[in-house]
Parts: sequence; structure tokens; C-alpha cells
Amino acid sequence: MKVQTFFTGLIATFGTAWVLVIAYPFFALKDQAAIEWEDKDGNPRQYSPTGQNHWRGAEVYRQENCQTCHTRVIRNSVAGSEVFRSDWAGQKHYDEDGNLLADTRRESHPLDYRDKHYASMGTGRVGPDLINYGMRVAAEVKRANEANEKAIAAGEMKPFTVEELTYLHLYNPRKDVAQSSGEKNWSNCPSNRHLFITKSAAGQGSVRALPVRTKEGSQVVPSADAKALMNFLNASQHDQMLPKSESKGENFAE
Ligand code: HEC
Repeated sequence: MKVQTFFTGLIATFGTAWVLVIAYPFFALKDQAAIEWEDKDGNPRQYSPTGQNHWRGAEVYRQENCQTCHTRVIRNSVAGSEVFRSDWAGQKHYDEDGNLLADTRRESHPLDYRDKHYASMGTGRVGPDLINYGMRVAAEVKRANEANEKAIAAGEMKPFTVEELTYLHLYNPRKDVAQSSGEKNWSNCPSNRHLFITKSAAGQGSVRALPVRTKEGSQVVPSADAKALMNFLNASQHDQMLPKSESKGENFAE
């Protein structure tokens, strides 16, 4: 056999397998198309599935057993009145004159759990439901920064970001922003300090260092697991319009 034939055969054998097993599935699954439909008034609607980076955080959530105290489901109105709560089941947006612009509140749907290996719907609610935590964290950052407006303008403190607010809760729920702004005075949410690393603050320090007290010359930074969990929690916003259900259930598109 000629060397040329040998190498052509080698490349064809491994190349075909690479294209079919790696390249094709990667491009086919990379950007899953949004589902589009029209509502009963003929308005275009769209539902975008969440990306796959989501699931690492979902795994950390499960590994840390957060679902023993937190649910991730907005039950339908037969089972309670939670679907009517703003910032919990969705949001109510008003214009400057107080007129209702949009109301995105809805109950959870199987599509909300797409791309997850486990739905982590939870068994009980010792703590609040977290399926729409991403909405509340954004509102809380706004509130906290407005309350500290003067100190921020004077350069005495940096404005909070949504990342930092969630990290501070995960690091020590009894010293998070809600606690220091007096919204709560105690927390039963366990601390997750093992997801953070205390390391030397030599040089400029990390931009992700948390504003918490630690040993002189040290800083507390989130680990990769803390980052994934924070991303998963902060991206938890499930109030997009959904296509009409095929089953005999509700018509979400109305
Ligand atoms: C022992 C029960 C328990 C466990 C386990 C638990 N939590 Fe909590 N969690 C609570 C309680 C109670 C609250 C409400 C008090 C507060 O805000 O600190 C809470 C609040 C929260 C909040 C703030 C919610 C909001 O709407 O402001 C977040 C975020 C949160 N927990 C995340 C987690 C994550 C992530 C895990 C797993 C790593 C977890 N919790 C595990 C009991 C628990």
C-alpha cells in the first residue's frame, strides 16, 4: 500500500467519525432555534430555550441539596394564589403614569425545565421559590443602590451588581444585602462558604473579590462552582410567553 493511500484512508476514517460524532452535533445543538408562533390577535410571539451553560449551575444546585428547602415551580391557580404575585410568578410593568404596560405572570410549564438533567422542582418551601429569583435579584440591586445613592456618588462604596448580591447571599445569608438593609433580620439558609476560596490579595486583587471581612492580606473569591450556581440562579427568569399547549391544559399564548 502506498503511503499516500494509507494517509488518505486514515484521514477519511477518523475525519468522517469526527464530522458525524463531534462537528455535526455541536453545530446542530449549539444554537437551538427559538419557537415562534402567533397569538390570537396575530401578534408574533417567541420562546427562546435557555443555553447549555445553565446546567452546570443546575448540577451544583442539586449537589448542594438546595431543593430540600427551595422549590422551582409556580403552581397553577387551583393549587394556590402564587401565580398572581408580581416578582414571583412574573412581572407587572407600569409606565410613568402608572398604567399597566405588560403583565408576564404565569404558572410553570414543562418547557421551563428543558436542557436540565433534573427538574429540581423541590419538595417543600422552607425558603422562597427560586424559579424567578433572577427578577427579584435585579429589583433588589436597584433598591440597594438607590438606598446608598449618596455613598456611591461620594465614592465611599461601589454600587452592588447582581452577581455580587447573589454571591454575598451564598457566602453568608446572615450578612447579605437584604440583612444589612434591614429587609430581614435572620436567615435559615445555610452558608455555602465551601464554594468560595480565600486567597492572597497580592497586587491589585481580584475584581470578583467579595466585600467581606477576612484575614489581613487575603480576599474571598468565588470558585467555578459558585460562579455556575450564581449564573444559574440569576438567569432564573421564567415568564416568557409560551406556545399554545397541545394538551387539554391552559392556553398560555392568550
Ligand atoms: C435549610 C433550608 C435551606 C436550604 C438547604 C437552602 N436554603 Fe436558601 N433560603 C432558605 C430560607 C429560609 C431563605 C429565606 C431567608 C433569606 O432570604 O435568607 C432562603 C433564601 C434564599 C435566597 C434568597 C431568595 C430571595 O428571594 O431573596 C437564595 C438565592 C437562596 N436561598 C439560595 C439557596 C441555594 C442556592 C441553596 C443551595 C446551595 C439554598 N438556598 C439552600 C432556606 C434554605
